[in-house]
Amino acid sequence: MSKIKELYSPAQIQLRIAELGFQISQDMKDLDRPVVIGVMKGALLFMADLVRNIKSKDPLQIEFVRLSSYGSATESSGAVQTPYLDLPNIAHRHILVVEDIVDSGRTAKFFLEYLKDQFNPASLRLAAFLDNPSRRVVGFSPDYVGFTIVVLFVVGYGLDYSEQYRELPYLGQLTNTG
Ligand code: IMP
Ligand code: MG
Repeated sequence: MSKIKELYSPAQIQLRIAELGFQISQDMKDLDRPVVIGVMKGALLFMADLVRNIKSKDPLQIEFVRLSSYGSATESSGAVQTPYLDLPNIAHRHILVVEDIVDSGRTAKFFLEYLKDQFNPASLRLAAFLDNPSRRVVGFSPDYVGFTIVVLFVVGYGLDYSEQYRELPYLGQLTNTG
């Protein structure tokens, strides 16, 4: 049996996202027609809450991609898969990528390089709900981070363990109760 220990409550998450949204709004306030790209499935809840906290001069254009990496339930293999990568022409636009977590860093690094090659953006930044720098394999630092974590594996608020627990409104740690 698995039990989930709460690490961040819904209220703590909302408070932090309001701060992040404020910071991003300051940085975006003069940008023309910004594009926000959510990386599915993990960014589902974070994206929905974050965009509601961004105030910008021009309305946001919202896009989604779906990226994943093969591997076990708690460890990625290294190869980034692109099950859905259908973006409109967003050449030379200001792009903000929204991710659930930067762990090994492979997904984020891959996707930002892809966007640079394809669209030569006017600016390109990444907001991650979580950063787990102790698990980093490639050099990468997100521009905006909700929480920096030190635990090995977390679930909830969009993040899954074998496609379970994404719907939890809090962030938790799986603990084995045997
Ligand atoms: P990467 O290792 O930085 O490429 O992360 C790849 C993806 O693995 C993330 O976008 C998440 O969807 C998933 N992932 C990484 N760490 C965790 C975790 O602790 N819990 C749930 N999913 C995770
Ligand atoms: Mg996942």
